[in-house]
Amino acid sequence: MAVTKDFKKFLPSEYFKEYYANIDLENHFLLQFLHEVYNTIDCRGKRLLEVGGGPTIYQLISACSSVGEIIFSEYLDTNRDEIRKWINNDPLTSNWDIYIEHVLGLEKIDASKESIEIRKNLLRNKINDIVPCDLFNEDPLFPKSFDEFDVLSVNFCPESITNNKEDFLKAVKNFSSLLKKSGLLVMCLLKNATSYKVGELNFPAYSVNEVFIAETLKNLSFNDITLRSFPAEFNSGYEGLIALTATKF
Ligand SMILES: C[S@@+](CC[C@H](N)C(=O)[O-])C[C@H]1O[C@@H](n2cnc3c(N)ncnc32)[C@H](O)[C@@H]1O
Repeated sequence: MAVTKDFKKFLPSEYFKEYYANIDLENHFLLQFLHEVYNTIDCRGKRLLEVGGGPTIYQLISACSSVGEIIFSEYLDTNRDEIRKWINNDPLTSNWDIYIEHVLGLEKIDASKESIEIRKNLLRNKINDIVPCDLFNEDPLFPKSFDEFDVLSVNFCPESITNNKEDFLKAVKNFSSLLKKSGLLVMCLLKNATSYKVGELNFPAYSVNEVFIAETLKNLSFNDITLRSFPAEFNSGYEGLIALTATKF
């Protein structure tokens, strides 16, 4: 299948179906990682920027219990609309309830309908703005401007929007400029992918591994890099997932 860089063809519903319809072992790995991060690192009251968040909210279910506010940024209007629909309880968007139930389980909270609603409302209330983001722009949130953030959440973004090293490095450098000194980066990446499937289309990926991403972050003055990986569960064109935290110095 040919690879397209035309993200206007990226369909949120197909993306959800492809990667998030079930909590398989890979998604469990992601939720477990995020649960551990936000329950061990003190993020109380901190300002979090979601970078290239797509049409997904799974990555914020643990975070929203501790951070003070979330700014959700994403490149595509269509994906930002999906997030608005989810916030407005529109039944015509993806349902993330099983993800909330799973995270509540990790937190040893009884996943009743009521506690699921409470967590949903908490996340909805913490998202204070939904804004455009282009990681190939030196000022990725232009035309909006914000103070630097305490926490950046970046999942499957810089390695999933290009197939070349130069663009990948530019994207990482550009998002890191949005983080405060001593701020926390929480990041997940596809390992050794060259493309990934969304419905009938393939989008580009730049192949990264643990050593390369750690070197890249060190070169941008990140430190305390803690990294873990998980092998791909299916034969989907990538070797696995990499999840990491790092601090900016
Ligand atoms: C593989 S998806 C990841 C979505 C979500 N973060 C997740 O965890 O599933 C890649 C995302 O990058 C966004 N994107 C495409 N071009 C971009 C750009 N130039 N800058 C920032 N994000 C971009 C896409 O719209 C898409 O939402």
